[in-house]
Amino acid sequence: MVAKGRIIWVSGPAVKADGMSDAKMYETVSVGESKLIGEVIRLTGDVAFIQVYESTSGLKPGEPVIGTGNPLSVFLGPGIIGQIYDGIQRPLKELSKKSGSFIGRGIVTSPVDMSKKYTFVPNVNVGDEISHGSILGTVHETELIEHSIMLAPTHPGGKVTNVVKEGKYDIETEIASVDKNGQSDNIKMYHKWPVRQPRPYKKRYDPTVPLLTGQRVIDTFFPLAKGGTGSIPGAFGTGKTVTLHQIAKWADSQVVVYIGCGERGNEMTEVLVEFPKLKDPRSGKPLMDRTVLVANTSNMPVAAREASIYTGVTIAEYYRDMGKDVVLVADSTSRWAEALREMSGRLEEMPAEEGYPSYLASRLAEFYERAGRVQANGSPDRDGSVSLVGAVSPSGGDFTEPVTTHTMRFIKTFWALDAKLAYSRHYPSINWMSSYSGYLNDVAKWWSKNVSNDWFKIRGEIYGILQREDTLKEIVRLLGPEALPDEEKLILEVARMIKIGILQQNSFDNVDTYCSPTKQFKLLELLMMFYHSGIQAIKNGVSINDIRSMPVIGTLLKARMEVHDDQIEKLEQLNTEINEQFKNIKSVK
Ligand SMILES: Nc1ncnc2c1ncn2[C@@H]1O[C@H](COP(=O)(O)OP(=O)(O)O)[C@@H](O)[C@H]1O
Ligand SMILES: [Mg+2]
Repeated sequence: MVAKGRIIWVSGPAVKADGMSDAKMYETVSVGESKLIGEVIRLTGDVAFIQVYESTSGLKPGEPVIGTGNPLSVFLGPGIIGQIYDGIQRPLKELSKKSGSFIGRGIVTSPVDMSKKYTFVPNVNVGDEISHGSILGTVHETELIEHSIMLAPTHPGGKVTNVVKEGKYDIETEIASVDKNGQSDNIKMYHKWPVRQPRPYKKRYDPTVPLLTGQRVIDTFFPLAKGGTGSIPGAFGTGKTVTLHQIAKWADSQVVVYIGCGERGNEMTEVLVEFPKLKDPRSGKPLMDRTVLVANTSNMPVAAREASIYTGVTIAEYYRDMGKDVVLVADSTSRWAEALREMSGRLEEMPAEEGYPSYLASRLAEFYERAGRVQANGSPDRDGSVSLVGAVSPSGGDFTEPVTTHTMRFIKTFWALDAKLAYSRHYPSINWMSSYSGYLNDVAKWWSKNVSNDWFKIRGEIYGILQREDTLKEIVRLLGPEALPDEEKLILEVARMIKIGILQQNSFDNVDTYCSPTKQFKLLELLMMFYHSGIQAIKNGVSINDIRSMPVIGTLLKARMEVHDDQIEKLEQLNTEINEQFKNIKSVK
């Protein structure tokens, strides 16, 4: 039975309708004469609370509300890469074309160009027995993306009785038939999936493979794993967007889902104008050739902002199921939480901390739980991952506010941006004392196998120097640097070198913008070697001032910008240079 009710109350994006006893939770409904898209978010008796994804101005009590029988779903098939969608997967370009303004109401648009033809290359033969999730064939979606056409997760599977030959087809073409118990099913190149439901997979792996980003403070100090979760909280202007762009560009993932929830005017420009201009640094093609952008701006209804997170993560899971590594970045989840708060307020729910609904935490958990590295269902065997990174923008940079504190419960890597560092132009302004990563031990094996057995040890030593500097700073503040013995002055000097030579990284410098794992490790090793030689020299009576004036220090600090990733031998030569220069100061004495 399709629900047919009447509007009894309208408050901004929230609508109440009665006569809705046939509606289901999270069913999408058509609201009012102008057929706005809405979703049932609470049912009490025959009254449905509906959040409407479009502007409700002019909507009046008495107008009809009709159920669709379907939950809010996304379209999954070729053509979604490169798109800029709103929170319910309507292409922004199409919307503005049809309505003249940004968002028209009650406009039905197709998420992709249904008439575009793709060259389909079959992957199965007539007679094959296949299960749900299996790959039927592939199409070349963009220059950068091979798109696998999969049997939908809800399909019972069966025997392939027909499959088209390699050739050009539009996505409405029935490219295969699959029979189960004499029941034949014609398969097209797409299917739909409800956004609030995680897509199934065969098996989940431990997060043991790092998601390399080429950003030293991330990869070396606070790593993220493929299939992992991370959060980057920071006040305005501390570098959230720049860091997320760096992750989108450089992370070793094939697909990027970028959810932009802008509030201020310039944040909107970032999402809609600047992001699409980014280049994929490895291929030189537009980054959009492997990106789906979900954009929410302040003039879009709050409910669409709320949905955007689910739309984005469902798209990410779909590409994961093809066997790809996908990274989803959300900038910022605070704006999404504000949408949740506004909706909750409209529904007159009992507010919890700072007016956020009591289910803020469970919603955040539901989102971050969808990260993972998995083995996909069906044949052939393949592994894929969804890594989730959310920026948080607490007002005034106060990390004790609810969105930050709840987020911290569900993520494993925390990159705390520090306004003081940003102010002193130390970028990325990730504070090395208050950040952490729960994946450090998990990814250590990868580093020891692929880079060096000493990675974990040397990383720990370098981090130890930063920790010691942090405690010494207090003494220096009280008594001045001269109160310290030379060994401790050396700690301060090496900590300074670590900060400038390793932790700082300029996103806008051609060489420094990306640092290979080997180069990251080599830089650590050089600084550690410098430190050990320094201790030895001090023991031999060399003064800290002599050490501080060694010319090799300048070379070490500039190495991140002057040595390309393919010139590691230049870093090896620095070993010799450090040794030589230490020998020389000793001989002066
Ligand atoms: N890694 C970096 N390298 C160089 N500059 C940076 C870096 N991170 C941030 N910045 C500088 O900080 C400014 C603000 O960063 P942005 O990411 O826009 O902040 P937020 O998104 O937190 O408001 C940037 O325009 C840039 O000048
Ligand atoms: Mg920003």
